[in-house]
Amino acid sequence: MTDEKIINSSNEHQHSHDYGEPGRVSVLRRDPLAPNLQLLTVRAPIVASKIQPGQFVIVRVDEHSERIPLTVADWDRADGSVSCVFMQVGTSTYKLGQLKAGDALATFVGPLGKPLELDRWGTVAVAGGCYGIGSIYPVARALKEKGNRVISIIEGRSKFLLYWLDRLEAVSDKVVISTRDRSAGDSVDAPHALKDLVTSGERIDRVIAIGCTFMMYLMAEATRPFSVKTIVSLNPIMIDGTGMCGACRVSVGGETKFACVDGPDFDGHQVDWDLLLARRKAYLNHEADSAER
Ligand code: FES
Repeated sequence: MTDEKIINSSNEHQHSHDYGEPGRVSVLRRDPLAPNLQLLTVRAPIVASKIQPGQFVIVRVDEHSERIPLTVADWDRADGSVSCVFMQVGTSTYKLGQLKAGDALATFVGPLGKPLELDRWGTVAVAGGCYGIGSIYPVARALKEKGNRVISIIEGRSKFLLYWLDRLEAVSDKVVISTRDRSAGDSVDAPHALKDLVTSGERIDRVIAIGCTFMMYLMAEATRPFSVKTIVSLNPIMIDGTGMCGACRVSVGGETKFACVDGPDFDGHQVDWDLLLARRKAYLNHEADSAER
């Protein structure tokens, strides 16, 4: 029996009796990828056996930490490992960034959300910024396996904030880099890189964007004039991740949806971005205060 099955916390059972790992989950490694961005790899065989591109997990470092939703950047069904990229923005993600091999997480629940729709569409542009650079990797890989031509577009404020170029190159037909300070690539960000591709005659059949809310909003706005279907992976505040608390509600096509169970992937042209951006902003200020303390 694996150690995560032996050690249980009573609190844990409340959330994980249906899915996810039934106890504490061992950290296999933690690798810094760029300033403030880290890759956490844990032993989570149940999640690894079921997870599909687009789904996410909720982790909690200890019983006192808040629950953090993380998209999954990679998994290995054979060895039962799952990897997530996270950004250190507040107290809980700061604690995640202190973990080392052999430590245990109090909660690791998943897979949550619906798998991303995958098909053979032709040419698909997959855009990622920040933690999303890691999250687009399994998406690009799955799209390539479906027979699509895959263009991965990554963005960062500067070259030193980019990572996993080699991994993305292995599963993409083309990787386009963009940096705000123009230290690498020709465009300032992923939306501009995408517009440049389209205006240079590249035919794009579908766009998938994962990253900060503002980046996904800009991607959706960039493709709206071209009517290219654009799927975004929304990351509103989440608490239970099971459709019970209502914290993750978003408005899509005039209807209220819960990102944790109806998403997290939605048509970017249907999302009420004003509402979503306002709610994210309120939360980030609170996170910054908490980290400061
Ligand atoms: Fe509670 Fe989605 S996180 S309803």
